[in-house]
Parts: sequence; C-alpha cells; structure tokens
Amino acid sequence: MIPQQKNSQESVKIASEAAPPEPRDVFSFPEGFLWGVANSHFQVEGHPGEITNRLSDWAMWTTLDGKILDRSTADRACEFFKRYQEDIELAQKLNMNSFRISINWPAMCPEPGHEYRKDDPTLLVYKEMLILLKERGFKTFLTLFHFCLPNWLAEIGGWNNERTLDEFERFAKFIAEELGEYVDFWLTINEPLAYVYQGYIAGTWPPGYNMNYLKGFECVRNLLIGHQRAHKVIHDVCPEAKVSVTHHWMKFTPRNKFNPMDRLVCHMRDGIFNHSFMRALHTGELTFPLISLIDHRVRKLTCKIPGLKDTLDFIGVNYYTRQFCEFECKWPLEFFGAKSNMVENETSGLGWESYPEGLYDLLVHELRPYRTDHKGALREIYITENGHAGIFEADLVEGDWSLEDHGRVRYLKSHLLSLYKAITRGANVKGYLHWSLTDNFEWAEGLRARFGLVRVSYPTLERTMRKSAKVYAEIAAHNGIVNHPPEQRQ
Ligand code: FCB
Repeated sequence: MIPQQKNSQESVKIASEAAPPEPRDVFSFPEGFLWGVANSHFQVEGHPGEITNRLSDWAMWTTLDGKILDRSTADRACEFFKRYQEDIELAQKLNMNSFRISINWPAMCPEPGHEYRKDDPTLLVYKEMLILLKERGFKTFLTLFHFCLPNWLAEIGGWNNERTLDEFERFAKFIAEELGEYVDFWLTINEPLAYVYQGYIAGTWPPGYNMNYLKGFECVRNLLIGHQRAHKVIHDVCPEAKVSVTHHWMKFTPRNKFNPMDRLVCHMRDGIFNHSFMRALHTGELTFPLISLIDHRVRKLTCKIPGLKDTLDFIGVNYYTRQFCEFECKWPLEFFGAKSNMVENETSGLGWESYPEGLYDLLVHELRPYRTDHKGALREIYITENGHAGIFEADLVEGDWSLEDHGRVRYLKSHLLSLYKAITRGANVKGYLHWSLTDNFEWAEGLRARFGLVRVSYPTLERTMRKSAKVYAEIAAHNGIVNHPPEQRQ
C-alpha cells in the first residue's frame, strides 16, 4: 500500500536506502541527469485574481456551457498558488532535481496599457517560488505561454492580432529582467501545434475555431514570430540564457500501411504537426507540406522570419502517444485526415495508446535534422513532458482509489527504458520531467483526467503519493531504472 502523505517522507527514504542492486540490473543514466516534474499555472494554481475577474481566455472558457467534459473548472484546481511550498517539498521528497512551472501572464497583464510593476504581488510569488526552488537545489524550467492569453488580448484576436506579439515581447522582457537570475531553462511557448490544433481545427479549446486552417496557420506563423522576439529580448537581458519551446511530438502510423491515402495523411500530419514549427526554428523559414500549398492563401503564409534561424538553444520534447491515421474524403480537404480509434497496446484513461517505441524513434531518428545548430554545436534535449492519465471523478475524497496506479508505473518504466536505449544510441538527452507532480485540471477533459504521481482530493486538497511516485523517486535516487530480482518485487 502507498502510505498517506504524512508518511511520504518515510516511503521515499525506504526507496533510496534500498540495498544496492546488482550492476546488471540497473539501467544507469548519464551523470548529472535531470529528474523532474512539470506543471502549468492554469492547471494547478487557482489564482484568485485571475479567477475572480476572469482575466484569461481559459478562465472565461470554463464558464461556457459544454466546454469541459466533466463540467469542472480550474477555479481552485490544486491551489498551487498558495500551496507551492508544500508541492516543492513533495518534489524534493521524491528526489527530484528539476521543476518546470509556467507563469500567469493574464494575471500580470489584466488590461490594455497595463504597466508591469516590480511590486506586482503575482510576480513576487513567482520570485519566492523560484528562489525556494533554487535554494533547494532544483534546476528551473519556466514557460512563458502555456495556452492562456490575457482575456483582453483574446478578445481582439489573440495570436492572430499583431498586438499580441508586441505584448508578449514586453512581457518576456519584464520577466527576464525580474526573474532571469533564477531561471535555468526558458520555454517561450508550450506546444504550439497542439494549441493550434485544439483551438483552430478541433475547436475544443479557445479561441474555439472549427477547421479554420487559414487562421490556424496564421497563428503558427505569429507564434514563431512571438518566439523569435521573446528569444531575442531574453538574450538581451540574460546573454547566457538557454531559450527554447516545448514541442509536442506525436507518432503517426497509417491505419493500413498498404493504403497510399492513409500514408499520405500520416505524411501531412507529421509534416505539419511535428515538423513545421521545428524546421522553422532551425532554418528560419516557415513552410508547409507541398500539398497544402495548393491553396494560395496557405502559400502566402510561408515565409522567412528574420532572426528566427537557430533560436533553439536546446530541444524541449513533450511525448505522450501515437495515433493511427486514415484518409477521409472530405471537402474542404482535411489536411490532418482523420484520427482512427485503432490502438495496438495498453491505453490510458484518455484512450491514449502507450507507445514507448515512438519516443525512441523520435530521439534517434526524427530529431536528426535538429541535432546540431548551424555552427555545428550539439543541442541538448530535455523531455519536458511525458505522462499517463487515469480517470477518477473530481469529487472523490477518501479511500484507496487510484493509489495503486500500475498503469502509470508501466508507462513510466517503459518510456524511461526507451529513453535509456535512445541515450545509449547517442541521443543527447540531459533530463526527463514527468507530467505531472500532482493531479491537475486537464483542459477540456476537466479535473477527472488525473496525471499526478501524487493524488489530489479536490474537495480537501489533500495530497497523497501514488505507487508511481515511489517508483519514480527510486529511479531518481539511483539515477537509473532498477530491476529488482523477482523475490524483491512489490
Ligand atoms: C500537454 C500539455 C499539458 C498537459 C498534458 C497532459 O499537451 O502541454 O498542459 O495538459 O498535455
């Protein structure tokens, strides 16, 4: 059984004091490897000012009927904004040495013409949070845009309005000036293509467009410009800064590998979702797969973005799953084709297939074009998200529900094994951050999709370690995956 939170210190001590395993049973990671956890502000914070005044597009979105599957909101979430010390302590008990957070832009820029202030109470909380992390020896990853826009900017077109680019640059500069000394890794934008897919094609996230490729591709271009401008101002303020994005990588497999149309859909999805943004960051030029250029309006969006080339100081990888794809005859042409429900392996509560081979493939093959910058320097790679969801209703309080999370343990170990193999094949991976330390608000899926190593009972906000937390703590303590002999296995 996994002990309750009050005993958690003890449980992890047991893990790290385990008898040294036989060398052949340990898959050791490189020295200095970062083991961490990741979250994002809206999903955990319950920021009082943002929520009361509905300062972000997401705080608004959750009030709209039918947008969130279980009808929950993030109004309180995990109260990380107040309880971050407790969660940082938890991460420390799990032997973590790195922590990824994001910063609440909407709360710090509530209205047009807002002047950023050094004594902004929200800024001061982040300062304290980062100082605490540094004092405890964590490497810090800071995301500037994690899906949430100041609502007033969303109302004038969000990333499709150039005003957002100016505002983002101003914000990035201010944060670099105020918090730069505590940040080890900067992530300007989280998962640009997932943002565009959900918000402009699927319509499940703000701004809620449906199949609007043109606006979506325009958004891709503007996110690139936003990144370039943020990258520049952060470097102006902190010349040594390491600045990148987190990119969501998906493995696409044709439903029927002998069907050329299914293969074409994969090629399109892979080209747009996986490579369009990355290639642009590497080369400085935005292009889309050839077929999409049939449309002259898409052609017009392809361009060279001044200053963009090589604004990838390291590679931030978010990897979760693969998708089978199949061709669907639709007009207007569906660039992404249809996602098939087919799976071949175990799935998570969200129906995401566990496919660790995809992570290996990504690290060893797919990332090859981006391995080095144009000066020949090898880029470091960090896994900035990877994790597994279980579905448990938001109002659950007591009992053992979800604590024996064997699915997450299998997911974690198999993906780390893939990562290990990729590293032995030369992938320059320097760290792994699990999504997520605690359960949190999973966007359109709501609170019931739980990604935490640590369970959160939302009615009481009590945190309880799951089995996966203990397993991960042991891996971090050994800097490797330990395969216990059968008699010692739990
Ligand atoms: C990623 C998001 C993150 C979280 C995980 C499960 O796409 O970056 O905020 O929702 O998925």
